[in-house]
Formats: sequence, C-alpha cells, structure tokens
Amino acid sequence: MAGKRFLLVSYLLLLVPWASSVHRSDFPQSFLFGTATSSHQIEGAYLEDNKSLSNWDVFTHVPGRINDESNADIADDHYHRYEGDIDLMHSLGVNAYRFSISWTRILPKGRYGRVNQAGIAFYNKLINSLLLKGIQPFATLNHYDIPQELEDRYGAWLNAEIQYDFGYFADTCFNAFGDRVKYWSTFNEPRVAAQKGYMVGTYPPGRCSQPFGSCANGNSDTEPYVVTHNIILSHATAVEIYREKYKSKHNGVIGIVVSTIWFEPFRDVPEDRLAVERALSFNAPWLLDPLVFGDYPPEMRQLLGEMLPSFSSEDRRKLSYKLDFIGINHYTTLYVQDCMFSECPVGLETQHALVALTGERDGVPIGPATAMHMLYVVPYGIEKTITYITKRYNNLPMIIAENGRGNYTNVEAWLNDRDRIEYLDSYLTKVAESIRNGADVRGYFIWSLVDNFEWLYGYTLRFGLYHVNFKTQERTPKLSAQWYKEFLQNRDEAQ
Ligand code: NOJ
Repeated sequence: MAGKRFLLVSYLLLLVPWASSVHRSDFPQSFLFGTATSSHQIEGAYLEDNKSLSNWDVFTHVPGRINDESNADIADDHYHRYEGDIDLMHSLGVNAYRFSISWTRILPKGRYGRVNQAGIAFYNKLINSLLLKGIQPFATLNHYDIPQELEDRYGAWLNAEIQYDFGYFADTCFNAFGDRVKYWSTFNEPRVAAQKGYMVGTYPPGRCSQPFGSCANGNSDTEPYVVTHNIILSHATAVEIYREKYKSKHNGVIGIVVSTIWFEPFRDVPEDRLAVERALSFNAPWLLDPLVFGDYPPEMRQLLGEMLPSFSSEDRRKLSYKLDFIGINHYTTLYVQDCMFSECPVGLETQHALVALTGERDGVPIGPATAMHMLYVVPYGIEKTITYITKRYNNLPMIIAENGRGNYTNVEAWLNDRDRIEYLDSYLTKVAESIRNGADVRGYFIWSLVDNFEWLYGYTLRFGLYHVNFKTQERTPKLSAQWYKEFLQNRDEAQ
C-alpha cells in the first residue's frame, strides 16, 4: 500500500518541470558522471561470507554513539541487492560509479590471515555487472572502515606499521580487480577520520585531545597528526605498488579523495583574511601538499612545530610517485574568525589553526541551512575551491568525488526533493563555469545513489537520489533522480 502511494506521488511530481541552468553539453563527452557510496554505508551483510568486524561495526554496537541507535549491520543490503542497484544507476544514465572496497571482506585479519575469496568474488560480480552496463568502476580502497583486528593488534593508524598492511591490501585489490578497475582512490577524507577519530572523539576509535573533545580516553594533541602522517605514508606505499607493478599492465590512474570546505572571512579585516588562509591550509593541503610537494604546508609547520611529524628521505622517495588526480568532496562554505590575534568565541575554536568556524554572521546564515550541522548551501564555494586547488597544484586533473545534500526523514523530503535539485543544479553550474575558466575537472559524483547509513546520524539524514524504505529495502526514485536522468540524457524539455 505504502509502495503504491509512493509511486503515485512520484508520478504526479514528475509532471511538474523544473528550470535547469546547466546542461550535459556544458561538459566534455568523456566527463565522468556518477553516483557515490561506500562499503560500510550500504553493504550490510556485516558478518557474512567470512567478513570480519570493522572498527565501525564495533563502534556502532556501543549504545549512545549513533543518533538513532542504529548500525550498518544490514544498511541497504547492497551485498545482496547490488544488481538491482546497478539497474538504478543504469536507468539514470551514469557512466561511472564510485564505491569503496571493504578491507574486512578481502582481508578479515589484515595481512595476518588469508585473502577471503568470497570477498573477492563479491567485488568481481559488482565490477563485472557495472561494466556490462557501461558503467566505469571507480574504487576507493579505504572509506573509514578498517579491520578491528589492526586496531586491537597495534593501534591501527597510530602505528607506522599500518602502511605495510595497507600496502598489502592495496596490492591484493590491484591484483584482483586492476584489469577492470581503471580509477583508484587510496583514501576517502583522511582529515575527517583523523579529526573525528582522534581529536573530537566522535568516530572510531573515539580518542580525543583537549580542548577539542571530552572523551574518557583522552590522548596527546599529536595523535591526529601522527594518524594523518601514517595515512599519507600508506597512500604513498599503495601508489608505489601501483606504479611499479600494475600501471603499465593495466593503464589506470590513482589518486586520493580529500574533504574540502571553502572559507570566507567572518569580518572584513586582515586578521580574518589571514585566518582563512590558515584554515584552508589545515584543510585539504594538510594531505595534498605532502603528496604533491613532499612536505606539510608552511603554515602548519609554523604553528605546530614539533607536533607535526617529519618525512624521512625514504618517505620522500615514496612520495615522489605523485598523484594522477585529486579527488575532492565538497559540500559547504563557512565563515572563519581569527583566534591568533583576537579572543575567540568560546566553543567555536577549531583545530590548532587558531581559527573559529561558524555558518552565521549576525544571525544571518552564509547560505540556506540544511538538515546537517554546519552544512549550508553556498554554490560559489565549489568554484572557489576548484580554483584554489587548481592554482595550488598546478592544474592537476580533478574529480568532484562527492557533492550533495542531506534531508531529514519525512515524506515531503523523501520524494519531492526540489531543494536537492536546486542544490545539485546550482553547484553543477559552478563546476561547469570552473571548467570554462580552465580548470581540468574530469568527473562529478553525486552523494549518494541511495539513502544509507549516514555515520553519526544513522538513518535520520538522507542523501540518496533514491529513497530507501529500510524495513522493506524498497527503493523509490526521488524527484532528484529524475532531474539527474534528464540532465544526463540532455533532454531539451528538462532545460
Ligand atoms: C562525506 C563522506 O565521504 C560520506 O561518507 C558521507 O556520507 C557524506 N560526506 C555525507 O555526510
């Protein structure tokens, strides 16, 4: 009954057109248009076919961690429903799909156990089915979830040992899937994992440093930097393996996906403009400067001194293998206030960059607020971010690996998601403008194909183009799915 009502509502909504300011023809023919997901957020089957527990499986089973006390044991049950999900993508007309490979499915015990053939078989089926439908697989090796085994054995990212485990995992994946997967990303949003896992303590392993978080197992202020350092070295290890063993055979590309926020000065004063520069450096360049130039941004070195680890000559050799592309996830823009020369408002100070971030000035938001904390709609931010990355990294090819907005769980937002269409349309318009102005952007992925497990928000915040009824696993297209489809088909009546 509920299903029929959805269909009727969707049908009626489809009759109402929208005005689009961007067209498929604004992008090159070879441009990748896709949707994005991650293993932990959609697969479910959390202990099936020899998969072991991940850090997120363990973390979400502790009461009080997730808004709605949910977990991703079943999530979208994509492990069993991947074919149907590929059909959804195919019906949208995308030519690429960004997903992540669950480390715990491939190597349940890291490099201390066997390769799990059932895990290999699952991704083989997924990849083959995608290719049959003309959809390029774009694989991320790590999207937050790691084997709990590595956490228990040696403290995972806190230990440099992990680069060997990550290298072994990467090698296993390149070897098994590299003949068909031509786009590889090593990590998704390492800064977020480091800050939330080791600074504010809201992501696994739930460690935090004063004054940023207040969890029981507080640690030293250096942990987020040590963790990021080990992620950078793990990335470099994987890239070296790809270049040395697979690149010439498979002819694919390898990069990394970082989270980006654009920043605007809170007040029009030199201190806040400087604070913007600092906030930006502590953001994507924390990862990208070492990968492109071989060292951390000068602003970070200046402020953090000994707290920031150094790269040995062996590390620098590995780092010289370089990126083929930079992937950016972009959602929002925030105001930045200086805390180096001025007192900062209590509660707002973030990171060691001595800046305070906020989305409002005198009660006026920087752009329309969304259901997600600190996520405002500011389309010009994506263009400024693209320009910043383009200039700083000498126009390396760029992929917009995620862009989208989340809505609360209510019927109105489920299907008639015009606010999502407006968001996507306005951001995509700015991406097209950036390309016209010379940026080498090669792809754009909407987060997400389906509503899924949104980390701390559980299932209360929905980013999907397709609504998911988590009781029945029924998928229903939202209006935004129709918008994307028409955009991709370049149908005149949608313009
Ligand atoms: C970025 C993360 O990569 C993804 O996992 C998350 O669901 C989206 N942002 C939305 O918050």
